[in-house]
Amino acid sequence: MKQSQITWWCQEMIRLWVPEGGTYVDATMGNGNDTLLFCRMAGKSGKVYAFDIQEEALKKTRDLLYSQNLLDCAELILDGHEHMDRYIGKNTADAVCFNFGYLPGGSHAAATRAETSIEAIRKGLCILKPGGMMSLCVYCGGDTGFEEKEQILKYLKELLPKEYIVIVNEYYNRRNHPPMPVFIWKSENI
Ligand SMILES: C[S@@+](CC[C@H](N)C(=O)[O-])C[C@H]1O[C@@H](n2cnc3c(N)ncnc32)[C@H](O)[C@@H]1O
Repeated sequence: MKQSQITWWCQEMIRLWVPEGGTYVDATMGNGNDTLLFCRMAGKSGKVYAFDIQEEALKKTRDLLYSQNLLDCAELILDGHEHMDRYIGKNTADAVCFNFGYLPGGSHAAATRAETSIEAIRKGLCILKPGGMMSLCVYCGGDTGFEEKEQILKYLKELLPKEYIVIVNEYYNRRNHPPMPVFIWKSENI
């Protein structure tokens, strides 16, 4: 069932809430599935910035977008998402998405880390337009993600309610550290 996948939830929420033809940031490019969604939404007038620290992720994403004839609207950036402010202006993005962890089948050493993830969330919130949305797929399990999840949730708890709406979801009846879809909206009046 598709509802069992956290990535399905995050993509559905983006489709529901985010206008087409805008500016989007995929902060964790990986195999390019979220970059592809954003490129489809961007159309001819929009723009997509996608980040990853692994050349392999850029290659996979480039190939995927090329196969769909959607390379033109995307800027694939080999850099950590914690530096996204070097590429994108404040209050310019309609959506920013994160899918934390490691590339499926890839090295756990290249997984996202608490410190850089929180810096990237902080910068992503600055980059979001008022009214814009951030989605986060938060994972932990095995040898990764526990500290990152704890630190992210701690950081999000401190965001001012008049500036951000933060919705944290859980697969309530699933055992063994299920993933956590999180959605944030930036106030229109910030
Ligand atoms: C779970 S995967 C992303 C999956 C992707 N959304 C997809 O559709 O396939 C997490 C990705 O984050 C990347 N990553 C790790 N640290 C990063 C950082 N500081 N900045 C950007 N990407 C990072 C990893 O290389 C990995 O490709």
